[in-house]
Amino acid sequence: MSNPAHPIDRRKFLRAAGLAGAALPGMTTLAAAEAAKPDPLITDVQDWQRYLGDGVDKRPYGSPSKFEKHVVRRDVPWLTASPESSVNFTPLHELEGIITPSGLCFERHHSGIAEINPADHRLMINGLVERPLVFTMDDIKRMPRVNRICFLECAANSGMEWRGAQLNGCQFTHGMVHNVMYTGVTLKTLLDEAGLKPTAKWLMLEGADAAGMNRSLPVEKALNDVILAFAMNGEALRPEQGYPLRAVIPGWEGNLWVKWLRRIEAGDKPWQTREETSKYTDLLADGRSRRYTFIMDAKSVVTNPSPQAPLKFKGRNVLSGLAWSGRGTIKRVDVSIDGGQNWQTARIDGPVLDKSLTRFYVDFDWDGQEMMIQSRAMDSSGYVQPTKEELRKVRGVNSSYHNNGIQTWLVRSNGETENVEIG
Ligand code: MTE
Ligand code: CO
Repeated sequence: MSNPAHPIDRRKFLRAAGLAGAALPGMTTLAAAEAAKPDPLITDVQDWQRYLGDGVDKRPYGSPSKFEKHVVRRDVPWLTASPESSVNFTPLHELEGIITPSGLCFERHHSGIAEINPADHRLMINGLVERPLVFTMDDIKRMPRVNRICFLECAANSGMEWRGAQLNGCQFTHGMVHNVMYTGVTLKTLLDEAGLKPTAKWLMLEGADAAGMNRSLPVEKALNDVILAFAMNGEALRPEQGYPLRAVIPGWEGNLWVKWLRRIEAGDKPWQTREETSKYTDLLADGRSRRYTFIMDAKSVVTNPSPQAPLKFKGRNVLSGLAWSGRGTIKRVDVSIDGGQNWQTARIDGPVLDKSLTRFYVDFDWDGQEMMIQSRAMDSSGYVQPTKEELRKVRGVNSSYHNNGIQTWLVRSNGETENVEIG
């Protein structure tokens, strides 16, 4: 669209930008030829310059640009019988840095989202304690506060991939993970108020949702670093994430992070709840099960390129990915483009925090060759992320939980990317 009132002298503009005449170093000849033609996006006045925009009273609570509508959580309808007992996935391929925006954190509910008025919420501590107590949200918010960034990964993340490559997109293969800053009080603060009896070795955490989801947690972990959070990313928890109160169990499987937390009972042994017997145990090839497999081992995934984010350009490109470990910090991430034969060390950028997502990059030139992209994380305990083959040798293929094997993406010469396995 041209604007007769304010004609722009195109030549002057191009000269000022250094674009007239020769191509910039690094520019392809196509881009140089394009630069020689008038670009109406530069020369014409656009609607967003012509008309006034929305005023400050239009959006009391902001939301993303309408051009970002595709950046959403997605579910896989055939995975579960109903959306209330189901999961949706974080769009990892659309995210940057290490913090997951609250509205994009994957959700996993066993009986849907409980909508609780915080004024009606109570947290009871009972069982093997000197003083059984009931806390209101106001009581909890008057206790000393802590802030912490950490990842939550569902034990079933990548669970559909145990027997072979299945879902086409890192959102679906790896998107049951999120990483936010929590604010809350340490569980130790509340347990000290109640006074744990010396015989108390386990706690049972119970949710106020229709599932009344509950899990047993060793007292040692509870006193070490567990937080009862009422805020995430600087604002109140979202209902999906357990508003008004959830357990934060750094580095341990998501199932323990009880949402809508209403009760903590202290006992001398685990409760053998559904979530630690028939579910969230890892069935081995010989029929035995691993149980209480709490820690999420080191894992990583290349988020770009990936099936939902194919390569669009030859030449300069950014490979980007995420790594995390429930045992500490990420020490190193290696990336292979030939299916694990040769490796190069990726560049880690941004904060490297304990039990948090960590961002890595490889800046590369692509000549259109087919690639088998993999990433391999190493953590501060010395643990190295295994291949899927190595994992299957030890664990078999019966389990849906704790699959932290190395992911392979096949990038075709047209840039299209697919979930594959080498073997
Ligand atoms: N807590 C309650 N009360 N009910 C639930 O269904 N799901 C658990 C856990 N806490 C669940 C719960 C599971 S399996 C996971 S992986 C995490 O919450 C998911 O947390 P998110 O929905 O915030 O991603
Ligand atoms: Co889970």
